[in-house]
Amino acid sequence: MQTISDIDTPGYNGLTEHTEGLPADAYFDPRQYERELKGIWYRNWVYVGRCADVARARSFRTFDVGDQTILLVRDEQGVLRGFHNTCRHRGAALCRESEGLLPTGAIICPYHAWVYNLQGDLLRTSSKAHAHGFDPDDYPLYKISVKEWNGFIFAALTDRPPPFEKMFDLPATRLDAWPLADLAVGHVLLKTIESNWKIFWENYNECLHCPSVHPRLSQLVPIYGRGLLEERDDPEWRAHAADTDPKFKGGLRRGAVSWSMNGNATGIPFAGLSEGDREAGHVYLTGLPSVFLVGHIDYVRVVRLLPLGPERTEMRVEYLFSPQTLADPTFDIRNVVDFTNLVMTEDAAVCELNQRGLRAAPHRRGVVMPEEYVIRQFHEWLRAELARP
Ligand code: FES
Ligand SMILES: [Fe+2]
Repeated sequence: MQTISDIDTPGYNGLTEHTEGLPADAYFDPRQYERELKGIWYRNWVYVGRCADVARARSFRTFDVGDQTILLVRDEQGVLRGFHNTCRHRGAALCRESEGLLPTGAIICPYHAWVYNLQGDLLRTSSKAHAHGFDPDDYPLYKISVKEWNGFIFAALTDRPPPFEKMFDLPATRLDAWPLADLAVGHVLLKTIESNWKIFWENYNECLHCPSVHPRLSQLVPIYGRGLLEERDDPEWRAHAADTDPKFKGGLRRGAVSWSMNGNATGIPFAGLSEGDREAGHVYLTGLPSVFLVGHIDYVRVVRLLPLGPERTEMRVEYLFSPQTLADPTFDIRNVVDFTNLVMTEDAAVCELNQRGLRAAPHRRGVVMPEEYVIRQFHEWLRAELARP
């Protein structure tokens, strides 16, 4: 029998009470998936992409979240507008392409040619006359909420979104030392994961899997190699409180400064980072349900999640660098992306593994272990979101 530490150490992060996981069918039941789309994905801010993708006046983009399609348009004044991609006449889709430039300063429905301005007002129908009681002012495009933040676009499929300032687990200013708005995408990894979207977040929220799943990452971040996210996840943490070894304190192995194949900075390091941010080697900002950002010393990684079905999720990883780094002919992007793509691919594979076992008839639900305390927080968040009226 294994020896188990005393769990009642003051300051210990881990769970001290036995905690059960979500019901197994929450990860594959289509009705639960629908509830989560409506209760979570259609009501919260969702990361869409970079502002640079819709930079010019009259440029547009469409973007699917569940069975909803968002239409983003940059108006002539430079304001980004968001609508459902649906005509108010009989509901045709307005833009067929996923991105482009509107030929005129209007959105024209391809079916019967109703014309809207870029603010969404209905300017003209194609009818010879309007019936008594029909007022074009009553038929603007269905608006949604859009927010541009540090070069990123977020959208919420509601006209009453939650406050954007509360969108991340930490204050949205946490990454202010990084020049987020000025960065450019140097590489993208797009992957379909055959698992429910919640499995991705559960895996993200624990490092118990790190020793067995991420051998390379566990070398770079020694505390991960112990199956822990941070110092106080160990019930014995007080015994090592004075030890500065990263395997107890967290952060990168000695001599490494960034997440890369050789642990070196590959891009030009950002100038404004604090000593603490540099030493940490990674600063995370998590915006459920769709995104997390990681600031490294020389690049920023943005991971966007979208549900494609009860058992299918899209993961898109964007690597952001300074334009100077991307313009440097000696810049070896592979040193960065090979490492992180490896980690993200390892994670995707275990998400799929997790999904595959869940349908066993006797498996009603799993267990949340002490080190997985952030998973319990995730489950609490999920329940609270679904309970919102
Ligand atoms: S559905 Fe758009 S004009 Fe008829
Ligand atoms: Fe992982």
